[in-house]
Amino acid sequence: MIFHLVAIFLILTEDLFVVTANANSEGDALYALRRAVKDPNNVLRSWDPTLVDPCTWFHVTCDDHNRVTRLDLGHAKLSGRLVPELGRLQHLQFLELYKNELVGPIPKELGNLKNLVSLGLYHNNLTGSIPSTLSNLSNLKFLRLNSNKLTGRIPRELTKLADLKILDLSNNDLCGTFPTSGSFSKFSEQSFKNNPRLEGPELMGFVRYDNGGRCK
Ligand SMILES: *[C@@H]1O[C@H](CO)[C@@H](O)[C@H](O)[C@H]1NC(C)=O
Ligand SMILES: *[C@@H]1O[C@H](CO)[C@@H](O)[C@H](O)[C@H]1NC(C)=O
Repeated sequence: MIFHLVAIFLILTEDLFVVTANANSEGDALYALRRAVKDPNNVLRSWDPTLVDPCTWFHVTCDDHNRVTRLDLGHAKLSGRLVPELGRLQHLQFLELYKNELVGPIPKELGNLKNLVSLGLYHNNLTGSIPSTLSNLSNLKFLRLNSNKLTGRIPRELTKLADLKILDLSNNDLCGTFPTSGSFSKFSEQSFKNNPRLEGPELMGFVRYDNGGRCK
């Protein structure tokens, strides 16, 4: 009898621990972003890491289970780098950080955001290449990375994003050719314009995808 009670107690406390750990881990991930950026307008002032979850923080939206589903920080004068910890927000659907002054690479960990519907990082100064891990975002509908300083080839794997409705990679420094298969077949050259080193659509059957274009 006493053993049963102890066992039940252990199971209960373990559950409690798991719930708390989850809540804190989303707050911790967001707080890592707060630490990494400069915020001259104090838009992140309400981000208090001692609260049990981040659901009362401004610019953060949660679902009924207190999981973060939206981060709305467009046009917020934030500068600095994105942090890999953002990849821990397992329930995130909207990651909107457009029109800031963000620099550095797009963390490959964003490919872990399985529920992401929209990735809005346009109008920043992001550098490096587009991570091929973004091709794991099977729910992605809106991918806007335009007006940054992204370099390298467009990862071919992105063509498997079946739900993609809007793709904007314009105004970057991408090179090579752009894929035209899979979900990319519905996008016009508008999605890719103003990339001086981008050579146009791949020529299926003529040039191998990774052969064309000035990427050296
Ligand atoms: C990007 O950097 C350039 C200087 O390299 C600067 O003039 C421009 O304002 C920056 N843009 C953004 C959106 O931060
Ligand atoms: C995510 O994407 C990368 C690169 O495309 C791939 O190697 C990896 O296996 C993918 N992971 C999952 C869980 O799908």
